[in-house]
Amino acid sequence: MLVTGGNRNTGLDIVERFAREGARTFFCGASAGSTAKGAEALAARGVAAEGLVCDISDAAQVAAMFDEIERRAGRLDVLVNNAANQGLHGCGPLDVTADMMREVFAVNVFGGFQVTREACNRFFLKQETRGVVVFLSSNTARRAIRNRTAYCASKGAINSLVRSLALDLGPLGVRVNCCAPGYIHTERWDVLDPALAARRRKNCPLGREASGADIAGVVAFLASDDSSNMTGEIVTCDAGCSCQHMPPDCDC
Ligand SMILES: NC(=O)c1ccc[n+]([C@@H]2O[C@H](COP(=O)([O-])OP(=O)(O)OC[C@H]3O[C@@H](n4cnc5c(N)ncnc54)[C@H](OP(=O)(O)O)[C@@H]3O)[C@@H](O)[C@H]2O)c1
Repeated sequence: MLVTGGNRNTGLDIVERFAREGARTFFCGASAGSTAKGAEALAARGVAAEGLVCDISDAAQVAAMFDEIERRAGRLDVLVNNAANQGLHGCGPLDVTADMMREVFAVNVFGGFQVTREACNRFFLKQETRGVVVFLSSNTARRAIRNRTAYCASKGAINSLVRSLALDLGPLGVRVNCCAPGYIHTERWDVLDPALAARRRKNCPLGREASGADIAGVVAFLASDDSSNMTGEIVTCDAGCSCQHMPPDCDC
């Protein structure tokens, strides 16, 4: 299996989950340095996984990554499109430039698409046991957050991409689903103002953000035969944030 952006944070936990279940697991980071750091972090957890360097927005690098998987393993059964450009531009939509928008879409939408296309053409459609694709979207695809125009738009595009791919690839035996997380505890939470962390948790009906392992559990379900009759689904995992009309301190 392959996890894009599996070198840190949520992706690393997804890699760990699959590797511990016995899957031969590949992951990529965008640079040699970040991929090597991911390999170190996984080794420190006692997890065996193989790191490949690939900027998924670059078609030649994606082709080279699949050449390497073909050479080393000769097959692929699960693709997790986790890599993301967070689009932390720190400005409102009217200051978002065309280049900012393009960079975010190049990774989140085009990148995920071309990795999926390559996985299908190289492996899934040639194998008797077809492969499974799981995308990582976000609850912000449906409920926007402020000053993240490019990111929210790209996550909405991923939801549509998942449905479109599911429709066309279903008859070919390939399932395509999506996990849409809310808050996830990443290294960014470790430097978060405690008052802000408490405020975010108050916004969660379950009172806590997801761990990477929580998200990995949903991804593992969507990649497993337990979800064999599901395709084109967007499964929200956000501690109930999306089901509330207003956060507690605005309720009346
Ligand atoms: N964190 C949250 O609260 C949250 C909430 C909702 C949804 N999500 C979604 O869940 C997923 C994981 O989130 P996260 O916060 O764990 O992610 P993250 O910490 O921002 O890490 C992003 C990952 O994507 C990789 N990446 C970025 N650009 C790439 C490129 N061009 N080619 C290859 N890899 C690239 C990064 O690799 P490098 O280290 O090499 O840059 C890194 O491994 C993402 O899809 C995100 O949008 C997260």
